[in-house]
Amino acid sequence: MSGDRPLRLLQLTDSHLRAAPGGTIKGWATRESLLLALEAALEGEAAPDAILATGDLSQDGTPASYAHVRDILGAPGVPVYCIPGNHDHPDTMAAALSDGPFYYCGDHRLASWRLVMLSTWDGDRGGGRLSETELERLDRVLHNAAEPNLLVVLHHHPVPMNSWLDKVGLDNAAAFLEVTDRCSRLRGIVWGHVHQPYDGVRNDVRLLATPSTCFQFVAGATDSDVDAHAGPGWRWLELWPDGRIDTRVGYAPKPARFGA
Ligand SMILES: [Fe+2]
Repeated sequence: MSGDRPLRLLQLTDSHLRAAPGGTIKGWATRESLLLALEAALEGEAAPDAILATGDLSQDGTPASYAHVRDILGAPGVPVYCIPGNHDHPDTMAAALSDGPFYYCGDHRLASWRLVMLSTWDGDRGGGRLSETELERLDRVLHNAAEPNLLVVLHHHPVPMNSWLDKVGLDNAAAFLEVTDRCSRLRGIVWGHVHQPYDGVRNDVRLLATPSTCFQFVAGATDSDVDAHAGPGWRWLELWPDGRIDTRVGYAPKPARFGA
């Protein structure tokens, strides 16, 4: 990649696939919903340079569910950078999604950017936590990376969403933000988990959350209310050599057969 072209990433998140191909959650056939999201996201677009798959890719943590992820997210033939969510089974996921074109966690150079892919998995519960090891790795990569631009990617939200989701966020968000606040080359922090879009700024760092490839939660709700109208979603990210981030969220129409 060279010149003024941005790095184009497609974020797909919280697909919640089950082992059974027709498996559902809240009345959504999640495998079919992921297929709809991917097809709609790519319609009329040049292929992305990479896909970001930001956790809760599986609902049941089974090898069969990750085989579906491989089939679907591997089809475009571009690198797929994955992290676990609370519903994932990290060891099973790593075993299934660690060889080409899949990358599990780690950090990766992409043109003038470095992606830092974090695990916030902390057992099978709603919330998450960065281990001391993971926090130290983050600090080290942010400090040592040669690239002028960095993007940090994690599953759980590190800032309040001002809804019931704040009971299941990142437990040690303060420790995370203390590390990220020290990095002047950090341009963005991107997460999944919340099944809704978010676009904010903190210390000149862009903060972005992305709708799920299945159902969406109602923003600001005190309980886990599902948006009855929103369809499968995604986010495009354009990362420019000068550190700028252009981004947009998209949705496919919600199939009438999905939902309660
Ligand atoms: Fe999650």
